[in-house]
Amino acid sequence: MAMTRQNAAPISGGDPDPVTEAVDLICGRYGDRPDALIEMFHDLQDGLGHVPETALKPIAKRLNLSRAEVHGVLSFYHDFHTKPVGRVVVKVCRAEACQSMGALPLIAQICDRLGVGLGSTSAGGSVTVEPVYCLGNCALAPAATVGGVLHGRVDAERVAALVTEMTGEAG
Ligand code: FES
Repeated sequence: MAMTRQNAAPISGGDPDPVTEAVDLICGRYGDRPDALIEMFHDLQDGLGHVPETALKPIAKRLNLSRAEVHGVLSFYHDFHTKPVGRVVVKVCRAEACQSMGALPLIAQICDRLGVGLGSTSAGGSVTVEPVYCLGNCALAPAATVGGVLHGRVDAERVAALVTEMTGEAG
């Protein structure tokens, strides 16, 4: 399931360690509750654009968890990014139903159209293309999300047009 959140409070940063500052702010927002860990990841990603590895230790400390426990939750959910991503993230399904409808050549065509490798971000930072394994839209394969919005029966031209719409840059 694609995740989008639009109303998270902005994170202030700027002091020597903006990641720890953001972690303190967000963990405090949820009362340092371990059961709010996923919400904390969402807020961090909304504020910083990703959940940096350097956030895991301070989160673990605040929540009285091990770093491995925090990392385990983070790595379980593929919607979280541990590295910076483009302004628009394209996720193309490469699971079975979509493969049967041409997902693998489609991925190559999308990457070609957008000028970016799979799992990479374009040079200007406008778009990231990632593989994903079933978006729950098998009946409308091949499926992809563009900027968190699910689309079915996509082709490379449509994906490129959606990216252009969102970035204002030619695809
Ligand atoms: S296999 Fe692609 S959406 Fe399910």
